[in-house]
Amino acid sequence: MMGARLLGSGSALPKQVVTNAELAARIDTTDEWIVERTGIRQRYIAGDDETTSTLAVDAARAAIADAGIEASSIDLIVVATATPDNTFPATATKVQDALGCNGGVAFDVAAVCSGFLYALATTDSLLRTGMGKRALVIGAETFSRILDWDDRTTCVLFGDGAGAVVLEAPGENDQPGTEGPGIIASKLHADGAQHDLLYVDGGPSTTQTVGHLRMKGREVFRHAVVNLSSVLGEVLEQSGFTADDIDWIVPHQANARILDATARKLGIAPEKVIVTVDQHANTSAASVPLAFDVARRDGRIKSGDLVMFEAMGGGFTWGATLMRI
Ligand code: COA
Repeated sequence: MMGARLLGSGSALPKQVVTNAELAARIDTTDEWIVERTGIRQRYIAGDDETTSTLAVDAARAAIADAGIEASSIDLIVVATATPDNTFPATATKVQDALGCNGGVAFDVAAVCSGFLYALATTDSLLRTGMGKRALVIGAETFSRILDWDDRTTCVLFGDGAGAVVLEAPGENDQPGTEGPGIIASKLHADGAQHDLLYVDGGPSTTQTVGHLRMKGREVFRHAVVNLSSVLGEVLEQSGFTADDIDWIVPHQANARILDATARKLGIAPEKVIVTVDQHANTSAASVPLAFDVARRDGRIKSGDLVMFEAMGGGFTWGATLMRI
């Protein structure tokens, strides 16, 4: 049976753009190094009046408008974020209140850069089992607030933003098979033994501070290509499709070289890979829904297309979802 289907998408970015050249004026780096090693040319950085929840609400409103529904019909909100407004309550409850659809289910998912994939698969399961009828799945981050701006090996890589999708529960009258719209298959993984390769060195229960992002970039890179190509293979096998059947791949936007290497390993043509890392940098849980929304709005991704979403992040956590739009 097909899972939850897409009704609409939306995204939001902070007002301020910061180019590589602007960073190079402040820290020991160059535009050439950043572009060559990562493909990143600029990132958006939240201002004082912008938080994870304000970006999430803006993306959610755009997705609701795109879906052409009333916000009051949303009964399930899942926000994937590693940079919540507060330690608690969940940012999803703030989004719920801002949208005026209080009373349903609202919670956050913490799976860092694969947060949107974790949120998507969890929401699909909840909708399939009747826990809700219409859901908002949001990836929203203000990673600029947990960066060590003196560490050139990490601070050049990340940005802020939010992306959202509205999903509807599968109905009794849905078309059988995999030709109709909906989620076809998802697979999630985690390996807690890799904690020290990508983590934040603070938290309420340890340091009572927010902490800063720490990463062993070269090792993360190596694991990313292996884990992502493996989980994409699993989802294809589970669904009965091949790499050739995929119309678009919407990957987590960490590094253009990871996107290239993963697509090459699976034999997917580079033209089928949606790339926004040059414009947004790595926006963690927001990157997949942001890239998806960009490609839907510019007309590349259309109804009926077979789309593969994938991401990997701290933990490690990683996952993929195949969906007919
Ligand atoms: N500007 C200029 N030089 C920099 C730099 C910067 N911003 N950051 C690092 N360097 C230097 C290093 O100090 C090193 O110098 P050295 O050789 O004199 O020691 C050199 O560049 C190479 O560093 P290295 O870390 O080996 O580069 P790399 O080719 O592995 O690229 C990353 C670094 C971080 C871009 C790359 O490893 C990466 O993208 N990893 C995955 C990150 C990721 O995806 N994280 C998120 C997952 S969710």
